Amino acid sequence: MRIKKLQLNNFRNYETLDVSFSDGVNLLYGDNAQGKTNILEAVFLAATTKSIRGSKDREMIRFGQEEAHIRVYTEKQDIPHKIDIHLKKNKKKGLAIDGITIRRSAELLGLLHAISFSPDDLSMMKNGPEERRRFLDLELCQTDKIYCSNLADYNRTLMQRNDLLKQIAANPSLKSTISVWDLQLVKYGSYLIRARRKFIEEILPIVAEKHATLTEGKEALKVVYEPNCSEEHFEDMLFQSLERDTALKFTSVGPHRDDLSLFINGNNVRTYGSQGQQRTAALALKLAEIELARKTIHDTPVLLLDDVLSELDRNRQLQLLNEMQDVQTIVTCTGMEEFVACRPEGNTIYRVSGNQIYSV
Ligand SMILES: Nc1ncnc2c1ncn2[C@@H]1O[C@H](COP(=O)(O)OP(=O)(O)O)[C@@H](O)[C@H]1O
Ligand SMILES: [Mg+2]
Repeated sequence: MRIKKLQLNNFRNYETLDVSFSDGVNLLYGDNAQGKTNILEAVFLAATTKSIRGSKDREMIRFGQEEAHIRVYTEKQDIPHKIDIHLKKNKKKGLAIDGITIRRSAELLGLLHAISFSPDDLSMMKNGPEERRRFLDLELCQTDKIYCSNLADYNRTLMQRNDLLKQIAANPSLKSTISVWDLQLVKYGSYLIRARRKFIEEILPIVAEKHATLTEGKEALKVVYEPNCSEEHFEDMLFQSLERDTALKFTSVGPHRDDLSLFINGNNVRTYGSQGQQRTAALALKLAEIELARKTIHDTPVLLLDDVLSELDRNRQLQLLNEMQDVQTIVTCTGMEEFVACRPEGNTIYRVSGNQIYSV
């Protein structure tokens, strides 16, 4: 699958933008704060309905405006599609495929599969578990519509349960009503736990292989899913933690507290890995994500590389570029140097400057 064209209206720093992408590598270069990441964010939004940065809808609307429009023309197995996203300040976003309004974001999935890669991903292992869960969710949501709707339902139920926990503090008689939310959390959450476990099982051998190549076979990498609780015990654990949850005023057990760990030669990368090892492990995970996505969707995803090339040494750059062959890629960088070192010929190059984009 690929993206042919992106049109923006009042999105971030763009009043209007109309840009076409070619099938190979598309390079966006320009100084800082010119709007390069914003373009990737718009593409990612069309693929996932989520911001690459985790921003809220209203934050993506151009300052002083009430709404923003993002339109993306795609092609999937040679069939053209049009995705429309309408961001509103205080209302739910509007979505349409080929001009037809859709109600649930899950319906959008599958039209455009985007994998983003930024320096934040390289530091994923040293950051908090939230980022690792985001990695799982963003990939799983794009390959599994049921996961996507279960995740939305889980998060909504979690918020409702947490609201109730706050009310219980003032009105303890409400305690008996919590089981309604518990049953729902278990229903949606169990799906998340199962799907995450399966995903890690599938990606495990690919990560190990990518990592072996990156380290010339010197180190063995293992990915381990660390669920906060197992599916079988989730309901019991919710019940057992009710006193604590009521005191804390939030739900302390469940897949919203899951994590994943990487082990190099048996040692946890997070605790024992050098910065270089953490970054190499994260790179292996990303490379594996691309390969697994290709297998799962029987198609090529679109790769969004945000400022990541300059963070990698020459060997790692080549490894990544190798993975990009026949995958449509949009790359951003501040200078051309890092890219010229790789493969500039035959690629589409744009300069991003002053809220506009120029073909080079
Ligand atoms: N909602 C918004 N409205 C207008 N401009 C915005 C908005 N959000 C961010 N920006 C502007 O976008 C620019 C940053 O864009 P970004 O894509 O991150 O830059 P780059 O990746 O080129 O460094 C900044 O100038 C910032 O002020
Ligand atoms: Mg940027």
